[in-house]
Amino acid sequence: GDVAVLVPAAGAGLRLGPGGPKALRLLAGEPLLVHAIRRIAAAGSVRAIVVAAPAGEVEAVQELLAPVAPVTVVAGGAERQESVSLALAAVPAGVGIVLVHDAARALTPPQLIESVAAAVRAGHPAVIPVLPVVDTIKEVGPGAAGPADSGPPLEVVLGTVDRAVLRSVQTPQGFRYDVLAAAHAAAADPLTDDAGLVEKAGVPVTCVPGSELAMKITRPLDLILAEALLHVS
Ligand code: CTP
Ligand code: MG
Repeated sequence: GDVAVLVPAAGAGLRLGPGGPKALRLLAGEPLLVHAIRRIAAAGSVRAIVVAAPAGEVEAVQELLAPVAPVTVVAGGAERQESVSLALAAVPAGVGIVLVHDAARALTPPQLIESVAAAVRAGHPAVIPVLPVVDTIKEVGPGAAGPADSGPPLEVVLGTVDRAVLRSVQTPQGFRYDVLAAAHAAAADPLTDDAGLVEKAGVPVTCVPGSELAMKITRPLDLILAEALLHVS
């Protein structure tokens, strides 16, 4: 393998509701992180895996993952971007391709990891998996409170975006090592994905087809969906 996979797993999981760090929440009796790492390790290109764990859980995560796959565990940071930077610093020398993959996308098929890695290997410096947007998307702004309204003012529509040119973005996002390292070194404000940093550096970002199984477990409904999807992933 020629690929290192960075796994940001240090988030609190606030939108999932009470119950501890999201990566350690159970899906069919096993932590989401275990489901994620098992699928990453099944991808043939993967040489090294670096997990950014919640700061207080580094040893617990090492013990949890030792029977699953060889991994390096580092303490993550307050923002996802910081967690990725800390994991990037632990990548072994000589790795040419780095993938960044959310622990929260616990059911991502190994084939998607391979297709992103293959596109980087084929010469694309930055690669993201995407899906078409299913809902109509509107831009909104604060509205004025009507005389009969009570409570906070309702938002009003400013415009409708052309859905045909929009994509939902997943992980794993793949990069040439030097491209990701330079983008993180130059990063200012934290972004929610790594391709955003690379875009700001002027590097072209290439899209490959994503997978519905790479859905991000964010809200309680997603956990229920993920449990049902386990039968097909
Ligand atoms: N993440 C991280 N370090 C952070 C914040 C997020 O490593 N400081 C990771 C999460 O563990 C997750 C991925 O980034 O695997 C995507 O983030 P998200 O889905 O937002 O997870 P959380 O931040 O945990 O959830 P929430 O925003 O609801 O608190
Ligand atoms: Mg978050």
